[in-house]
Amino acid sequence: MKNYKEILCENRAWAEEIFAKIDKKMSAITLRSRDKIVDGVNENGFHRERNIDWWCNGFFGGLNWLLYDYTKNEEYKKTAKRQEIIMDEALAHFELLHHDVGFMWHILSGASYRLTGDERSKTRNLFAAASLSSRFVLDGGFIRAWNDDEALNWTIVDCLMNLPLLYWASDVIGDDRFKRIAMAHANMAMRDHLRRDGSVAHIVEHDRETGELVRTYAGQGYADDSSWSRGQAWAVYGFTLSYMHTGEEKYLNAAKQVANYFIANCSDDWLPRVDFRAPKEPVYYDSTAGACAACGMIELAKLLPENEGGVYMNAAINILKAMTERFCNFDPTNDHMLDFGTVRYPIPGKFTEKESGVHISIIYGDFFYTEAILKLLGSEFNPW
Ligand code: GLY
Repeated sequence: MKNYKEILCENRAWAEEIFAKIDKKMSAITLRSRDKIVDGVNENGFHRERNIDWWCNGFFGGLNWLLYDYTKNEEYKKTAKRQEIIMDEALAHFELLHHDVGFMWHILSGASYRLTGDERSKTRNLFAAASLSSRFVLDGGFIRAWNDDEALNWTIVDCLMNLPLLYWASDVIGDDRFKRIAMAHANMAMRDHLRRDGSVAHIVEHDRETGELVRTYAGQGYADDSSWSRGQAWAVYGFTLSYMHTGEEKYLNAAKQVANYFIANCSDDWLPRVDFRAPKEPVYYDSTAGACAACGMIELAKLLPENEGGVYMNAAINILKAMTERFCNFDPTNDHMLDFGTVRYPIPGKFTEKESGVHISIIYGDFFYTEAILKLLGSEFNPW
């Protein structure tokens, strides 16, 4: 195995070629979707919208910030700023908000503040951080995920990706109270979501007083004890980010454990299935899991000694290349780029393939795919 720097160097020309295609496509999309809060695409292949409090609503603006930072094309910046203004309606209805405010604002307003110094963006992101920290259940020591009655004591592994919002808030105001909440939650995730074999549970129900694990649920995966690949990806990147923001070695080790499991369970073709423990047939892919895991693995590689990092960089590039060949559409006349994302595993008799959003284009797939390619090109801007 070559070291990660050698692998990066060998793949530079490939990443440049792919980024040129992304940029060509996105420079058309940024104009036609500027006023849309984007979730995925409709049956005609153009962006569609969801409710204003939908957890995916920061990704299109965030993607435009990634592109602006690298290209300095002002059209991307205009779209990102426009998206932020539209999203003020969601802030105004804050009672509808849930734990995914990091996905919604940290990569949008947080990115805006970090890239342009806009004080209004900083205020929006601090508001989001205050909202997220208010979901912390004091005795239980966890951040509540959703608002449904049944979810009173539920955490989901996805929340690891919302924690950078809290680390950022503590840095910005010079008060570690947000960071303490984030670390309490990350510690809980290491204890209750991370299994001994390196896989993770999607949903955990806790005892409200002690925080102890009561039971787990399949969530968007195949079964309670299976391993939903996007959940694994959230954990690979999420634990890596907690290490990057705190320097706590235990998060780095957790990230390596989940990444090792992810790599060991990727099929020979490097195309992530929706659930690593689902039946072999039918084959359901989830490209979004591959894109997010690749981002985590690239960062992980860079945090490790050059030789140790090789395995993670190699896996990230194998996943990205396989998905580029099989799943990418770079035609600038439509709005879908990374296809074959899947929202949830379709359980026979419970959720049909259509209800489960099988093999569709989802905006966060495009976001993480672009983020990963930019990382290969040496972009220093981490939106998380
Ligand atoms: N955070 C929800 C999902 O990954 O689908």
